[in-house]
Amino acid sequence: MEMGTMSDTNQMPHEEGIDHTLSLMREGYMYILNRRHSFSSEIFETRLLGKKAICMGGRAAAEAFYDTEKFKRKDAAPNRVVQTLFGKNGVQALDGQEHKHRKEMFMSIMSPEGLQSLKDITNKQWKLALSKWQQMDEVVLYDEVKEILCRTACQWAGVPLEEDDVKKVTKDLAAMFESPAAVGPNHWSGRHARNSVEKWMGELVDKVRNGEINPPEDTALHRFSWYRDLEGNLLDTETASVEVINILRPIVAIAIFINFTALALHHYPEERKKLKTPDEKYAQMFVQEVRRFYPFFPFVAALVKKDFTWNNYKFEEGTLTLLDLYGTNHDPEIWENPDIFNPERFTDWEGSLFSFIPQGGGDYFMGHRCAGEWVTVEVMKVSLDHFVNQMEYEIPDQDLSFSMVSVPSIPHSKVVLTHVKQIKK
Ligand code: HEM
Repeated sequence: MEMGTMSDTNQMPHEEGIDHTLSLMREGYMYILNRRHSFSSEIFETRLLGKKAICMGGRAAAEAFYDTEKFKRKDAAPNRVVQTLFGKNGVQALDGQEHKHRKEMFMSIMSPEGLQSLKDITNKQWKLALSKWQQMDEVVLYDEVKEILCRTACQWAGVPLEEDDVKKVTKDLAAMFESPAAVGPNHWSGRHARNSVEKWMGELVDKVRNGEINPPEDTALHRFSWYRDLEGNLLDTETASVEVINILRPIVAIAIFINFTALALHHYPEERKKLKTPDEKYAQMFVQEVRRFYPFFPFVAALVKKDFTWNNYKFEEGTLTLLDLYGTNHDPEIWENPDIFNPERFTDWEGSLFSFIPQGGGDYFMGHRCAGEWVTVEVMKVSLDHFVNQMEYEIPDQDLSFSMVSVPSIPHSKVVLTHVKQIKK
């Protein structure tokens, strides 16, 4: 570790004022990037939620952020986010060996066979939905895709879902990610939804354990119900329930990227021709560019684990530190013309753990990088194939703009389709 004394450290660029939580809420996805530009610095200090905070972005900052000697996750997320988005005692807030062991549980369902089965289920659900959409005058894509994905997620995870419950479960899972930054009624509907789904899932975990139901072995419900922690104990019911929900909820959230996929096809019609070729690689590049280009997860938060010096800047134990995901994906040091949508940029792209980070950076097993990144890419590719090859549709006049402030950002009209026709092959 680099060590520094007071004399050889620099003063971090510093945003004056008592508190900037409001600016963060007003500027949303651009908050960190705007200040990185005006300070000409990858890093700056500010005050958020009444406390000193450090914000940073770019490849080197991401590398430092994912160094587990430097940062920890315990107590890093604000309570309101835990009560809606994450749930208590989930993998997001674990550190060290405990985190690694729990993360292995998640990654164990991400095998090639697991992903193939997910693709098959997603395809089947898309086909069922298309035959229904053909009968509809108007399809609100975002709402309909959430339902496709709720059915897909439950089936893949081994979670029995009654037809009568599909709408409610979809709505509850979505409320958890649609409200993380909300205050007032939306926050409460997120909390209420979490309580209700956690209770349902807890009952299912108990039923697995007492033999009343027996989901296939390679599913999340089975694996997580029988997973043993480092001491050899089963997870308590609430934690097991939180972790199964950590699979279901974000799969439904892929609906946001799928909305942006449809939007990209609409705004860049020349892309559709390139996607019509049987070249699988272009679909992959297109999906990567959708994940890079559009706003989704703005930043991730951690706390300084113990005092250290990085690039001559002093970090003090306990300081809240935000890594800018959106800004790193739009960093001109990394991306040529970052604000242009161009899948070709991924042609010879070899990948990097720290520069392309829509779902977090670093390593899956050692760090907190999103466990569901492969799931996301595969589900997006199946959906893209449907838009391009399996259906015809029209996009009538509507408000397709999206906010750069509200989190998560979703096109205002939620993308309405008309004249949907399934192409039978
Ligand atoms: C919908 C698109 C998705 C986005 C934008 C997204 C984004 C993220 C981000 C930013 C993180 C935090 C990274 C960090 O803390 O450093 C994360 C963590 C996580 N994601 Fe995703 N994710 C998505 C989909 C998924 C899916 C489909 C799954 C499961 C099938 C999933 C499961 C997880 C889990 C379990 C974690 C916690 C990992 C850990 O703390 O070690 N995510 N995701």
